[in-house]
Amino acid sequence: MRDFDEVARAIAGIPFMSPAQGRLVYDHVQQSGARDVLELGTAHGVGAAYMAAAGANVTTVDFAGASYDPSPEETARRAGVELNIVREYSSYTWWLKTQIEVNADAHGNVTPQYDFVYLDGAKNWTIDGLAVVLVEKLLRPGGWLLMDDLEWTYAQDPGREATDGIVHRDLSEPERTQPHLRAVFDLIVAQHPSFTELRRQDEWWGWARKNPDAPRTYTVTTSQPLSALVTNAARKAARKARRRVASLK
Ligand SMILES: C[S@@+](CC[C@H](N)C(=O)[O-])C[C@H]1O[C@@H](n2cnc3c(N)ncnc32)[C@H](O)[C@@H]1O
Repeated sequence: MRDFDEVARAIAGIPFMSPAQGRLVYDHVQQSGARDVLELGTAHGVGAAYMAAAGANVTTVDFAGASYDPSPEETARRAGVELNIVREYSSYTWWLKTQIEVNADAHGNVTPQYDFVYLDGAKNWTIDGLAVVLVEKLLRPGGWLLMDDLEWTYAQDPGREATDGIVHRDLSEPERTQPHLRAVFDLIVAQHPSFTELRRQDEWWGWARKNPDAPRTYTVTTSQPLSALVTNAARKAARKARRRVASLK
């Protein structure tokens, strides 16, 4: 764990998270005892550095090829922390898919991996609407999701042609002028049965806590004996293979 003020001095002036916001996420990590933290949207790595400074193992994800000066590696070096920086896919939604796959059992029960997820990326209904649904699976019971930029709209950036690949002129008027993330928070997160404690902070931040009770389980039951299931699956696979061979002829 590193002293907050020392870290704030070491990374002063690097965008995008302000020291005041840094203090809030640093305190949250410390007070909640969050061990494993996920950040979606790395940029220069400032938010990630504050959370790592509070003692968490931080994984932070951005676009493949995202390039910033200073880089998140350099920010981490200056802050004296270690970060797990992922830049593998065109979107963190695909990376989340891979994490759900590797952490799911044969019945689709996912072992959650994170105590705190900070979503600070696309600010887009389609991308982040999917992201929060995937994040919920990876969040441990009792863990918190924090979303930044709830009131942000594309119309606030009229000089820009595109934001993170979304071309402004392709959007309808409501899509340009309404805040996407407020809709994600109100209509998806707040209405999701797993999120039972919700908080808005300073209009721009939305906090949601996953129900601290038992994790969701999904078991497959069948009245057929196991041997019948195996035989049926083998027959199905053989039929599929025959169809594939026939289509190649
Ligand atoms: C506001 S910046 C993040 C700031 C950072 N969290 C901090 O605390 O300083 C948003 C970042 O999200 C990334 N981003 C936006 N959409 C994304 C997506 N679909 N997949 C991955 N990264 C994305 C952008 O490349 C950008 O670096």
